[in-house]
Amino acid sequence: MPIISPSLLAANFADLRSDIEMINRSEADWLHLDVMDGVFVPNISFGFPVLEAVAKLCTKKLDVHLMIVEPGKFIQEVKALGAYMMNVHYEACPHLHRTIQQIHEAGMKAGVTLNPHTPVCVLEDIIQDVDMVLLMTVNPGFGGQKFIEHSIQKVKTLKALIQRTGSTALIEVDGGVNGETGQRLVEAGTDVLVAGSYVFRADTPEQRIIELKHLQ
Ligand code: DX5
Ligand code: ZN
Repeated sequence: MPIISPSLLAANFADLRSDIEMINRSEADWLHLDVMDGVFVPNISFGFPVLEAVAKLCTKKLDVHLMIVEPGKFIQEVKALGAYMMNVHYEACPHLHRTIQQIHEAGMKAGVTLNPHTPVCVLEDIIQDVDMVLLMTVNPGFGGQKFIEHSIQKVKTLKALIQRTGSTALIEVDGGVNGETGQRLVEAGTDVLVAGSYVFRADTPEQRIIELKHLQ
């Protein structure tokens, strides 16, 4: 059974409380929180004041995805949320090993995220040190985009790297996940499914979460 991490980016921002309460009641395992800065990605989402309010209401583990430059500057802010997982982009971290170390020192799990064009092979010398690899299956910055097909092969390549090196890293995917792409992603070796629109834009979001949770 995959871990399910619905993405709050597709929630109703005028009534976040209702959507978070739905997530709390649901079979979701984590809540995925997308922070954007308008520099690393061409969009701005929400920042720490909003996340603090969300963190107070949410009973699920927080899976924070920072789509920002210099994410290492915000480790203490993410820790203060009580986050479980802090994901930083490979492309935004010139000293990734140090950043991963600092996330661990702060008591959080550390995830490294790859943009669609970044090959899995760049993880060769860091895969033993991370708790998760987040593969972007769309270009980051927006919800509701079309799934990039090449991602299936990328999951398989990453799975092979993890097995070859004896790493315990989880594989998470983010972007364009629905029942159909989710099925193929799980078959390819994905451990964690992020889903925004497919969950929050549905008439019965809790059912969508159950559907994804039962993929195998
Ligand atoms: C995109 C974000 C995603 C987004 C996914 O940059 O990282 O988490 O919410 O949205 P969907 O599931 O609608 O593609
Ligand atoms: Zn995300």
